[in-house]
Amino acid sequence: MEDLKELISNSSLKHIAMIMDGNGRWATKRGEDRSYGHKFGSERVIEIAQICSDLGIKVLSLYAFSTENWKRPEKEVISIFNLLNKFISRELDTMIEKNIKLSIMGDLSQLPLINRKAVEHALKKTSSNTGLILNIGLNYGSRAEISTAFKRLYFDVRDGKIDIEDIDEKAISKTLYTADLPDPDILIRTGGEKRVSNFMLYQIAYSEFYFIDTLWPDFDFAELSKILKDFFKRDRRFGGINANKGS
Ligand code: FPP
Repeated sequence: MEDLKELISNSSLKHIAMIMDGNGRWATKRGEDRSYGHKFGSERVIEIAQICSDLGIKVLSLYAFSTENWKRPEKEVISIFNLLNKFISRELDTMIEKNIKLSIMGDLSQLPLINRKAVEHALKKTSSNTGLILNIGLNYGSRAEISTAFKRLYFDVRDGKIDIEDIDEKAISKTLYTADLPDPDILIRTGGEKRVSNFMLYQIAYSEFYFIDTLWPDFDFAELSKILKDFFKRDRRFGGINANKGS
């Protein structure tokens, strides 16, 4: 942990984004209902958040529920939302104690009222925390996020608040849910699939990708350490060249 902490503090690494996939398969392998996997998956959330907080990471973004996940059987959707409230009531004290600030990306207006209230309560209670930002995607879809940003920018131009020339990459970034957050340096997807499933499409332009076979309920510090150690070996050029390597 200490060696990684030092590597991180001497680097520009600020933001890790994760697609938490594989809960269903993890449960099925054990002859259990898919909800059982989500339950174990939700327990990993606070563990990984605490690890990231201890490591000095600034932002951890997690994909908990996508705009497409409504297509799942109602029973499964209900179980995920039940887990969300359980997660908040179980972990809010830990978030406060660990100085973790909760942040949500996604359209909360479509969530059941009981979930919206719990989320709003946790957002308020952690709003002045200055440590890790735990940014959870809930009813989140990147294309919907970008479409909403386009509409907002259109209205700002129409209403004379900004000029058409003001619409640049920075203005678009500032209109997304992640307006105040740095872009992810690392995108991790557990569960073996090699796709990004409508997650932070604008923000991951220069992220380093890790697609790993481990199912989300099995993801732990050892897995994260492996990824971080590899990340520090990668040569991030952001479209430029690395002057030190001459290539
Ligand atoms: C993907 O696994 C996981 C989800 C769609 C839900 C993620 C939800 C949680 C981890 C629990 C709730 C979250 C919080 C923040 C309390 P999958 O079901 O697609 O797995 P599969 O690919 O094996 O079927």
